[in-house]
Amino acid sequence: MADIALRGVRKFYGKVQVTHDVSLDFASGSFVVILGPSGCGKSTLLRMVAGLEEISGGEISIDGRVVNDLEPRERGCAMVFQNYALYPHMSVAENIGYALKVAGVAKHERATRIAKVAETLGLAEYLDRKPGQLSGGQRQRVAMGRAMIREPKVFLFDEPLSNLDAKLRVQMRIEIRKLHNRLGATSIFVTHDQVEAMTLADTLVVMNAGHVEQVGTPSDVYRHPASRFVAGFIGSPPMNLIPVRVVSDSEVELGGARLQAGVHGLPVGQKVTLGIRPEDVAIGQGGCAMDVEFVEELGASRLLHGKLGGAEMVVQVGASEMAAPGTLAFDLPPSSLHFFDIDSGKRLGE
Ligand SMILES: Nc1ncnc2c1ncn2[C@@H]1O[C@H](COP(=O)(O)OP(=O)(O)OP(=O)(O)O)[C@@H](O)[C@H]1O
Ligand SMILES: [Mg+2]
Repeated sequence: MADIALRGVRKFYGKVQVTHDVSLDFASGSFVVILGPSGCGKSTLLRMVAGLEEISGGEISIDGRVVNDLEPRERGCAMVFQNYALYPHMSVAENIGYALKVAGVAKHERATRIAKVAETLGLAEYLDRKPGQLSGGQRQRVAMGRAMIREPKVFLFDEPLSNLDAKLRVQMRIEIRKLHNRLGATSIFVTHDQVEAMTLADTLVVMNAGHVEQVGTPSDVYRHPASRFVAGFIGSPPMNLIPVRVVSDSEVELGGARLQAGVHGLPVGQKVTLGIRPEDVAIGQGGCAMDVEFVEELGASRLLHGKLGGAEMVVQVGASEMAAPGTLAFDLPPSSLHFFDIDSGKRLGE
């Protein structure tokens, strides 16, 4: 286990800056997920922690020791990549034990440690097979085993599940979390899949274009998104984000129509983005109305798609509500509303 601290970490590729003064603290033994869209700098950040990429500014420390100038192998991190990069000509046992062989560990001890790791990962019966004779999930576990056998203080995962089919992803996600609970090594897991991030993380770091947008527990980030970007990125379907103008303490206007919406003391006349999650809309009352154009059947619930004053809106309702298009009467409960600055996108008020 190890604490990890990033202070003002920057990365330039030539003149292009891909991470902007990232400062983060990862507590020893925690499972941190870095979430963000493609190209936002997640892999770069992880590779800088591992020492595979030089940093252009700032400081990275592991267990209180600045590691900026340390070689990857001196940092005590093991990394699991998206493409597992197993050695195809080696057996599972040889793949798992390779790092120990290179380090000159005696054959007998190697065999004992390989057996232990294989046992933990449910690979004991596949030790003699080649990677080509394994399923995707089994290969993924071999890649994990190869990292685990070094008994690292820190695990770094770069989208390790993205090559797996949907069902296996869910299964492996649970396995990784169980394994973490057992081993307790500090883990940083990079993904662009928000469900994966929500379910795995103790601490969630949301990144956008090289900046950290928000750090918090998954439920914090879900309930109090710090920006319009986070609000729209987390949640499936995502939060409705509607540009409105405040007209009184209890009303907003959009597209010429007035809606009942408690605005938490925002100044009259201010233009803001109003956010409400599809599942938070209260149906059946009638402060607002929407023409439902399309009903998406999900089995356990339904998604009603329509327009509110010209803005796209999705409302999630129970399986017994509204099976066909029509007019939906609803309210926007004040406690479920989010407001964001129209320009900066930052969260407003509480
Ligand atoms: N070696 C490089 N030279 C120049 N630019 C690079 C290099 N590696 C990455 N980049 C750029 O840095 C940015 C961040 O890349 P990075 O791989 O960290 O993104 P990511 O968040 O991991 O994305 P993905 O989810 O697609 O893996 C991207 O715009 C990318 O084009
Ligand atoms: Mg990446």
